[in-house]
Amino acid sequence: MERIFSGVQPTGNLHLGNYLGAIRNWVRLQNEYECLFCVVDLHAVTVWQDPEELKASTRAVAAAMLAAGIDAKRHIIFNQSQVPGHAELAWLFNCVARLGWLNRMTQFKEKAGKNKENASVGLYAYPNLMAADILLYKGTHVPVGEDQKQHLELARDIAQKFNNDFGVDFFPVVEPLIFGAAARVMSLRDGSSKMSKSDPSDLSRINMTDDADAIAKKIRKAKTDPDDLPAAPDQFDGRPEAANLMGIYAALADIDIAEVCNKFGGQQFSAFKQELADLAVETLAPMQDELRRLMGDETHVDTVIADGVQRARAIAEPVLAEVHDIVGFLRP
Ligand code: TYM
Repeated sequence: MERIFSGVQPTGNLHLGNYLGAIRNWVRLQNEYECLFCVVDLHAVTVWQDPEELKASTRAVAAAMLAAGIDAKRHIIFNQSQVPGHAELAWLFNCVARLGWLNRMTQFKEKAGKNKENASVGLYAYPNLMAADILLYKGTHVPVGEDQKQHLELARDIAQKFNNDFGVDFFPVVEPLIFGAAARVMSLRDGSSKMSKSDPSDLSRINMTDDADAIAKKIRKAKTDPDDLPAAPDQFDGRPEAANLMGIYAALADIDIAEVCNKFGGQQFSAFKQELADLAVETLAPMQDELRRLMGDETHVDTVIADGVQRARAIAEPVLAEVHDIVGFLRP
């Protein structure tokens, strides 16, 4: 059976990259797969989080999944910490994965920065927890943005090594699902770095909670270059800002980037930015309205999460019991 697992960290505002690179694809895939969508609070605490803010963000991320159109009756929305199997399987994977594998993870290097001696052990072992998230449910497909690709390759290696070490064909080899134009949405202030929750400049990203004025202002202020817009996708070389803004337009309008080049090629950035802002406001508005409504209904969101936790546990428990047998843990 094919099963999707994917997750988002509850660390601050969800932004357009999270939506176009991940959540919007989940909404589309939910008709073809059985899905689990997880608010990964255990991942969030690899860096210190304010406890009250963590709770609020966990709710807000679950609400955003609902507002985007995930059907929580057919699928599972839940938070990671409430299914203890994630942490447990992650421990076993700490014993399967090799130091050399983790040493190659570029995201750890980026996040730990210069002072890597001071990074938490959790931040280092983070990809093992990610593998556990997916494999705890024998997830087969994982829709993510481009930045998670290396972590998913590690998850495949872990599944294969576990199967080899114990002579079983137990864990599936997970398939990443990474889609086109919006797989890597870049910062509005710098077309060569990723749009990110942790960028100190709020102008660098469009938050899912930004109102129409904020969206228009951020797009108006977005970095550009002095030339007119390219007329074809092969003219993006050395023009990361043009590529990013036109890529965002393509993703929002759900058309090919070549079509965007056709439409706006040769024009100045200013007119295009106005159209992009209008499109962004119009496309995001229905979801943002629903998100605001859900944020005012904590009880409903909490009920959805609690129900998801129960259903996730029910899938995880028998998998974990089999893992215990395979590894040789006595279950008296
Ligand atoms: P996180 O919370 O950083 O991001 C959530 C999802 O959004 C995608 N994304 C982007 N896509 C395009 N452009 C961007 N600028 C951009 N920024 C973020 C991410 O690729 C991701 O799909 N480690 C993961 C969460 C996680 C997970 C998992 C994912 C934990 N366990 C198991 C899949 C399966 C993370 O930090 O995502």
